[in-house]
Amino acid sequence: MKTGTKLILLHPSSLHKQGSAAASAAAAAASYRVWLLVFVSFFTLVTLLTLITSKEALSSAAAAAAGNSPGGDKSVKVALPDSVFDALVHYASVNTTAVTNRFSASELGAVAAVLRRCNANKGKKPCNFLVFGLTHETLLWSSLNYNGRTVFVSDNDYFVRRHDERHPEIEAYDVQFTTKVREMYELLAYAKEQLKSDCRPVQNLLFSDCKLAINDFPNYVYDVDWDVILVDGPYGFAPTAPGRMAAIFTAGVFARSKRGGRDKTDVFIHEFDREVERVYSDEFLCRENLVQVVDTLGHFSVGRMDAQRFEFCPNSDSISLQSSSSSSPSYSSKPSSSDN
Ligand SMILES: *[C@@H]1O[C@H](CO)[C@@H](O)[C@H](O)[C@H]1NC(C)=O
Repeated sequence: MKTGTKLILLHPSSLHKQGSAAASAAAAAASYRVWLLVFVSFFTLVTLLTLITSKEALSSAAAAAAGNSPGGDKSVKVALPDSVFDALVHYASVNTTAVTNRFSASELGAVAAVLRRCNANKGKKPCNFLVFGLTHETLLWSSLNYNGRTVFVSDNDYFVRRHDERHPEIEAYDVQFTTKVREMYELLAYAKEQLKSDCRPVQNLLFSDCKLAINDFPNYVYDVDWDVILVDGPYGFAPTAPGRMAAIFTAGVFARSKRGGRDKTDVFIHEFDREVERVYSDEFLCRENLVQVVDTLGHFSVGRMDAQRFEFCPNSDSISLQSSSSSSPSYSSKPSSSDN
């Protein structure tokens, strides 16, 4: 076929002299053109089909995301993400009677409503959700914020390692807390003294020496504008437990120091009925920002702050220090790292 084409292209005059050869060459060229046509048509068709189906998939995905696809094309469905699939199976099969400190239905509803709102602004950036604590609800939080970024923090390196093995797609970091629940009032007095320096409301905590600042997150965590922060860890049920003082202070600073993203940060504090949670929230998240208390979940909406302000709650009366056992707290003695 190739030689035939060449012959015709290079020597058109030879057609007269070599009759039969030229005829077969012409036939070969004709069949070549037919095949070419078939191929071109085939590829055009395939391209068109791909375009149409991908458009359909896109529009149905958009419709599904908007929650208004009942009248849509029933033949095209979006696959459930693996992590959401696994989460559904997990919650359907887990023995919940053995789980302690679960979220109540109303508490779940409060967090879910905020995550839904945070994810509803399709034109805007995805929702950034920071969670203190690896708990029974971890897979749920991760699934509810599927389109956003969710980062988990735990003081239990065993939990984090086990979690990484089972759910490598979920971002979880091990952070060491140097505080103890029994030091809560000493640390509060210290933080109030340092309001204009190490413990100020607007700062980059990566470089902070404040004892309540968490600064061993991966560096990028300090550059994210967190939209929702949930404090459900670390452990705080014993005097020697790390408690949530640093988590609440850090949440307060993250909300005040935001440079982009949404103006307000929704901060949830679980076990809000406990002393540390209540006192530290009053001090660093402020009564005036309290949106609601649902069962034992406090919900705050905290705005950003001017860098020249050196009080967390400008509109609240300063909460007076409650009975601190030690009259002159010693800030120099670092707590021992042997936790529990
Ligand atoms: C669920 O956990 C509880 C408490 O640990 C236990 O008594 C019960 O037998 C468990 N149920 C099942 C079905 O495993």
